[in-house]
Amino acid sequence: ALDAALTDLPGPHLVAATAGTTDAGLIDPLPEIAAVCRTHGARLHIDAAYGGGLLFSDRHRHKLTGLGSAATVTLDLHKLGWQPVAAGLLAVKDPRDLTALAQRADYLNADDDTEAGLPDLLGRSLRTTRRPDALKIAVTLKTLGRTGLGHLVDQVCARAGEFAELVQDHPGFELHDPPTISTVLFRPVHATDDDIAAVRRKLLTDGRAVLGRARLDGRLWLKATLLNPHTRPDDLAALLKAVEGTTPR
Ligand SMILES: Cc1ncc(COP(=O)(O)O)c(C=O)c1O
Repeated sequence: ALDAALTDLPGPHLVAATAGTTDAGLIDPLPEIAAVCRTHGARLHIDAAYGGGLLFSDRHRHKLTGLGSAATVTLDLHKLGWQPVAAGLLAVKDPRDLTALAQRADYLNADDDTEAGLPDLLGRSLRTTRRPDALKIAVTLKTLGRTGLGHLVDQVCARAGEFAELVQDHPGFELHDPPTISTVLFRPVHATDDDIAAVRRKLLTDGRAVLGRARLDGRLWLKATLLNPHTRPDDLAALLKAVEGTTPR
């Protein structure tokens, strides 16, 4: 379909692929998309806001094969990077892609200061005043390192796999699909969409669980995004029990 679209539509083209969709954590076939982009001379952006953290993990990094073909990649380290919001990044392969940010204003960066090597934020950000978001990322990387972060990624992916198994083994629940990252979509088998919306809100307002929701294949699903590496198997069983106990019969 992408090949046909790029053939039919007038260029230039920008293709945006996703590595970790918001609803199901799915990863687009990146090498195949990159190959089609190459054939058509299309520019490739990959939204790895959620999935980008897999790069830290020796076990899961292979799922992002092809990411290096993108001209630009977005990463949200407030997702699989355990940063307080906000820690969103745009990574560019060619630094010249940032020239759009190279605005000049005499009152902000006088030529003689720039020539003298004084740093300023123009050229790095659209905003002139901003929080030093890079600092917390640097501290985390220095403290945990890639291996430490990779271990956290492995933990949450493993918990998601275990939760999916619990769902699958339970006759009262349906699993959408085995998780690709750390998102598990599930629903009580006899529940209506309204029941599911109500269950989610009740668990939230009772302070028991924060579940997301996603509409896929025409039905509403509960969404558990596992992001706490300290989650234990008992917590997963308790979550499923809480959903079961809150669902109308
Ligand atoms: C795939 C994907 N892209 C982008 C975003 C937006 O991220 P932010 O809220 O940091 O702008 C999200 C947020 O959930 C996401 O899942």
